[in-house]
Amino acid sequence: MAKKKATVFVCQNCGYELPKYLGKCPSCNAWNQMVEEKLPDKTDSRSRVTMSGKKAKAVPITSITIENEERVKTQMVEFNRVLGGGVVPGSLVLIGGDPGIGKSTLLLQVSAQLNQQGGKVLYVSGEESTSQIKMRAERLELRGSDFYIYTETEVSAIAETIETLKPDYVIIDSIQTMHHVNIDSASGSVSQVRESTSTFMQIAKMNGIAIFIVGHVTKEGSIAGPKMLEHMVDTVLYFEGEQHHTFRILRAVKNRFGSTNEIGIFEMRNGGLEEVLNPSQLFLEERLAGATGSAVVAAMEGTRPILVEIQSLIAPTVFGNAKRTASGLDHSRVSLILAVLEKRTGLLLQNQDAYLKAAGGVRLDEPAIDLAIAISIASSYKEKETRPTDCFIGEIGLTGEIRSISKIEQRVKEAAKLGFKRVIIPKNNIDDGWDRPKNIEIIGCTTLSEAIKRAFS
Ligand SMILES: Nc1ncnc2c1ncn2[C@@H]1O[C@H](COP(=O)(O)OP(=O)(O)OP(=O)(O)O)[C@@H](O)[C@H]1O
Ligand SMILES: [Mg+2]
Repeated sequence: MAKKKATVFVCQNCGYELPKYLGKCPSCNAWNQMVEEKLPDKTDSRSRVTMSGKKAKAVPITSITIENEERVKTQMVEFNRVLGGGVVPGSLVLIGGDPGIGKSTLLLQVSAQLNQQGGKVLYVSGEESTSQIKMRAERLELRGSDFYIYTETEVSAIAETIETLKPDYVIIDSIQTMHHVNIDSASGSVSQVRESTSTFMQIAKMNGIAIFIVGHVTKEGSIAGPKMLEHMVDTVLYFEGEQHHTFRILRAVKNRFGSTNEIGIFEMRNGGLEEVLNPSQLFLEERLAGATGSAVVAAMEGTRPILVEIQSLIAPTVFGNAKRTASGLDHSRVSLILAVLEKRTGLLLQNQDAYLKAAGGVRLDEPAIDLAIAISIASSYKEKETRPTDCFIGEIGLTGEIRSISKIEQRVKEAAKLGFKRVIIPKNNIDDGWDRPKNIEIIGCTTLSEAIKRAFS
C-alpha cells in the first residue's frame, strides 16, 4: 500500500500545527491562516548533530573553559550599545522592521564597517540584484575588499558558499525569501522560515560566524513567522521609525548577551543612516518658545536619559463626551492623570477635550513622565506657559502625591547638560545621596498642587 504523504496544517500566524484544516487557529484565533505543509523528513541526519558537529557529552561545569567571546565593535556606537557592547562571534541576530524602514541600509553599513575591521563579510540577498546592492553601496560610499555580495535564496547553496568562502559575518536579507529544499511549502511559510533559521543557527554556532537575519514584520508589527523564530535566535532587534520622521530607533527586545533596555537612534540621510549621539537635542529642536501646553521631561530610554517635550491641547468639548487622545503616550496613564488633576487640584477637566503627544514621535512609557504630562495639561488649561528652561520629573500617585523615581542623577545631569535652569523632582529623591550638578536649581515637591504652584509662579 502506498504510504500516505505526511502533511500537517500549520498556522502561518503562530506556527500551531494541526492534522486537519480549521478556519480558525485554536491557538492564536487568527482566521484563514492554516496552510497545508509537508512534514520534514524525520530521519534527517542533521537532527542528531549538535552545536559542535559531534555528539555532545555531559561535562562538569568546573571543567568548562570560557571560549574567547570577544565582541567586535563597529564604528556605530549606537549599534554596539543595542547589541550589548558589540557583535558576538557565533551569534544569530534577527532584525525586524517595517518595509522600507532601512534594514538593508543599516546592515550594509554595518557590513562595511565590520569589513574595515578586517572581517570577511558575505551579504546574501534574496530581494535585490547585485547591481541594486552595489548602487546602494555607492550611494552610501561604502568600499571594501573582502566584502562579497551573493544573490541566492536556496539555503543549502548558501551553506555551501559559507563553507568555501569562510566569512566571519553573514547577512541574510531576508529570511522570508529563503527556501530549503527539504521543505515543500512556499518561501516565507512557517516551516520554511523555521527550517532555514535552524540551518543558519547551526552554521553560526558550529563555525563561530555572526549571522544577521532580516525579518519582515506583519501588519501588527511583530516579526512574520512563528514566535519560535524569536526563541531560536540569540538577539532580536526591531528597527522602527515614524513614517514622517527621518529618525529611526533600533530596539533590542531579546538579547542573550546584553540588556534589552537599550535603544539606538539613527537618522536617515541621503548618505545613509547616521547616528544621533545627542537625541535630546533632536527631540527638543522644534520647540516653540512661549507656547502653552508644553513641558519637558527627562525620560529614560534604557540606560540613557533623553529629554522629550510633552504637548497638550485642552479645549472645551463641543458636544457629547469629552474626547481624549494621546500619541506616543499610554492612553490610560493620561486618563489617570486627568482624573487626579481634576480631583486633587481642582482643575475642571471633565468637559474639556484633551489631546496629548510626545513630540518628535517617540513613545514614552514609564512612571517618571507623569509630572510633565500633568504640568503640560495644566499649562494648556490655564493658558499659562511654563518656563522654557524648566524640566519636570516624577510619578504621580492617586492621592495627588509625587512619588520618587529611579535614576534621578542621570536625568538631572542630562537636563543640566542641555541648559535647563530648573528641575522639579519628587521631594523623596532629593536626599538620595547623589551627586547634584551645580548649574541647575533642584526643587523637590511632595504634591501635585505644590508642583503646579512652583511651575507657574
Ligand atoms: N537616495 C536616497 N536618499 C535618501 N534616502 C534614501 C535614498 N534612497 C533610499 N532612501 C531611504 O532608504 C529607505 C529604504 O531603505 P532599505 O532598502 O534599507 O529598507 P528596507 O527596510 O531594507 O526595506 P525592504 O523591507 O523593502 O527591504 C527608503 O525608505 C528611504 O527612506
Ligand atoms: Mg531590504
